[in-house]
Formats: sequence, structure tokens, C-alpha cells
Amino acid sequence: MRPLLLATLLACTDAHAATPWQNEAAAQIPPFAEQLLGTVRQAITEGGPIAAVQACQAVAPQIASEHSQHAWQVGRTSLKVRNPDNVPDAWERAVLERFASAAEAGTPVKELRHGEEVDGQYRYMQAIAVGEPCMACHGTAIKAEVQDAIDQYYPQDQARGYQVGELRGAFTLRRPIAQETP
Ligand code: HEC
Repeated sequence: MRPLLLATLLACTDAHAATPWQNEAAAQIPPFAEQLLGTVRQAITEGGPIAAVQACQAVAPQIASEHSQHAWQVGRTSLKVRNPDNVPDAWERAVLERFASAAEAGTPVKELRHGEEVDGQYRYMQAIAVGEPCMACHGTAIKAEVQDAIDQYYPQDQARGYQVGELRGAFTLRRPIAQETP
């Protein structure tokens, strides 16, 4: 038996094993996440948090579309969004609610992920935890002038008041998959 086939068969016997699609989806995330974080860090260093809000507002959607040029479409979503364009659809909302319950029950946020086939697409979500660098713009003690900058761009902002370690949202990915005829 060829090793690849054996590995596939073994993987199928374990309901929790990652599928090839899941591994490929997960691999899309680090470059996307690093570019987002790098951009925010650089903007904070160069111009402070207010300039960084402006930078984030201007480039976060662009970074997502740059990373969506191949089969995968990548983005971020949350139950409490800052950018209304990131509002979850019904499937994403259900997954986020499951992540939130699991986090409440004590599962570490960074372990939360879920992938499945939905209507001819493979969809995957991976939870995002709030870290120290996020607090300047999503935390409980955001500086007044930073709040003003956020209010200016996002009058409906819901993404404040987080503590370090909390579930902030998730990366959300999808790609079309070939339909197999039975
Ligand atoms: C300089 C301010 C700033 C910092 C620091 C910051 N964010 Fe944001 N965040 C924003 C802005 C502005 C948006 C909306 C931009 C967009 O995605 O269109 C946003 C959007 C998001 C979203 C997308 C969902 C939504 O609410 O629209 C997630 C998830 C997120 N941030 C998580 C984080 C995490 C995790 C960190 C820390 C690693 C972080 N942010 C640090 C300003 C910031």
C-alpha cells in the first residue's frame, strides 16, 4: 500500500484528524496574520495608535484581498465587529457561537478551529485570541483620542472592552471544491 493512501485511511479512522483541506486552510493563515500584525506594529511605531487606526482601516481589507488571489478567500469575522463588512454570515455565526461556548467552558482560544464542506465550498475558521498588542484598540482602557479615531471610522464599533486571552473573533476561509458525482 502506498504511504499516502495509508495515511489517508488512517486519518479517516479518526474523526478528529485534520483533513487535507483543513491543513491547507490553516497554512493560509500565518502569512495573512503576520502581515496584518506587522502593518499595525509598524504604524504604531511610526505614528502612534491613532495613525495605526487609520492605517488599519485603510489596509486591513486590502491585505485580506491580496491574500485571496488564489483558490482561498481569506478574511476575519467576529460576533462583535468593528468593520461592518466583517459581519459573520449564518454559518460563521454558528461556528463563532460554538467557539464562544467552548472558550467559556475552558478550551484555550488558540485551539478552537472548525472546517467542513458547505454547499460546494470547503469552509474553515480558526479562532483569534486577544493579545497584549491588541489592547490599545480593542481593550478596556483605550485612550480617548484613539476612541475618537475609531468612532470616526466605525460609528457602530462593537469591538472594545476585551481582556487579554478572550475570544476576539476568527479567521474565516473558503474555497470551491470539485463536486464529486456519486
Ligand atoms: C491600531 C489599532 C488596532 C490594533 C492595535 C488592533 N486592531 Fe483589530 N481592528 C482595528 C481596526 C481599525 C479594525 C477594522 C479593520 C478591518 O478589518 O476592516 C480591526 C478589526 C479587527 C478584526 C476583524 C473583525 C472586526 O471587528 O471588524 C479582528 C478579528 C481584530 N481586529 C483583531 C485584532 C487582534 C487579535 C489584535 C491584536 C493582535 C488587533 N486586532 C489589534 C484596529 C486595531
